[in-house]
Amino acid sequence: GSGPLILGIESSCDETGIGIVRGHTLLANEVASSVEEHIRFGGVVPEVASRAHLEALVPTLERACAGADIDLAELDGIAVTAGPGLMGALVVGLAGAKALAYALDKPLYGVNHLAGHVAVDLLDHGSLPDPCVALLVSGGHTSLLLVEDVATKITEIGSTIDDAAGEAYDKVARVLGLPYPGGPHIDRAATGDRRFIRFPRGLTAPKDLVRHRFDFSFSGLKTAVARWVEARERDGEPVPVADVAASFQEAVCDVLSAKAMDACQAYGSQDLLIGGGVAANSRLRALLAERAAALGIRLRTPRPILCTDNGAMIAALGSEIVSRGGRPSSLDIGAHSSLP
Ligand code: KG4
Ligand code: ZN
Repeated sequence: GSGPLILGIESSCDETGIGIVRGHTLLANEVASSVEEHIRFGGVVPEVASRAHLEALVPTLERACAGADIDLAELDGIAVTAGPGLMGALVVGLAGAKALAYALDKPLYGVNHLAGHVAVDLLDHGSLPDPCVALLVSGGHTSLLLVEDVATKITEIGSTIDDAAGEAYDKVARVLGLPYPGGPHIDRAATGDRRFIRFPRGLTAPKDLVRHRFDFSFSGLKTAVARWVEARERDGEPVPVADVAASFQEAVCDVLSAKAMDACQAYGSQDLLIGGGVAANSRLRALLAERAAALGIRLRTPRPILCTDNGAMIAALGSEIVSRGGRPSSLDIGAHSSLP
């Protein structure tokens, strides 16, 4: 491959990721996850995540360099997630990136994590069409983006007003007695009747569509599932986990896919890119494929390992920025936990 040789560092949540790309070619993607350390707390604990990043950063960097068979002196730049994410987690990656940039005398690029989830698709499917709508669904975010230029012009057209989609999966899994992180467990458990219970579809009523056409809400759904399960248990009845999981999953995926299709039509996009951990969900993929095919919309999904948080996505975005002659960040750039 050709193009700039970029090292990417990601540390916004519980994954320490180091990626190396040359243009659109992936050379290395090493991820160290602290998810195991958060399991007993049922969710990511920021302080635990920060410490884990600190311990994992250098070994992960060493593995990536060995795997890519490059010398750091050859780099054209270092890209790092500047936000959004957990403040204490972001600063570890940023400090590492600054140290490397300073020691190696290379330009530093502080980038947006969400834009990275979009840019990573370049490594699998090449240049993005303009416009392109992206649906990002993970434990930390649920957004619909209009991508006009991956390096310079991404607009958020909708997002969740409460819980992220993955967060809803994780909370409902707990209600159903399934382990954390709950998404993959619910996906596997959802073998029952998708129409067993009609759970609420947040922000889809005509009055909600006026102001929240492309926004999401999952907290009412989560509460509805919890109430339903509690009522069953109070009556001493067994909980039909396969049916409840399937019905919950249908409510989430129905809304995500309907709004994504609506966004593509509203913005004249023939392509829908999906990313984030929940993009691995089997029902979401099936529903999107069905609805996209009916509307002549092409789906672009990076391979699963690139959908979850990783360093390659940050390197891919850095490479696009460098290719367009983007300006490097100053070495005193800060972390922005709620970067838009
Ligand atoms: O992108 P990711 O690895 O990390 C961030 O949150 O940024 O996403 C993790 C989320 C978790 O909430 C997890 O439960 C969910 O993605 N997830 C899934 C599936 N695999 C992972 N949710 C539904 N179905 C899945 N197959
Ligand atoms: Zn993410």
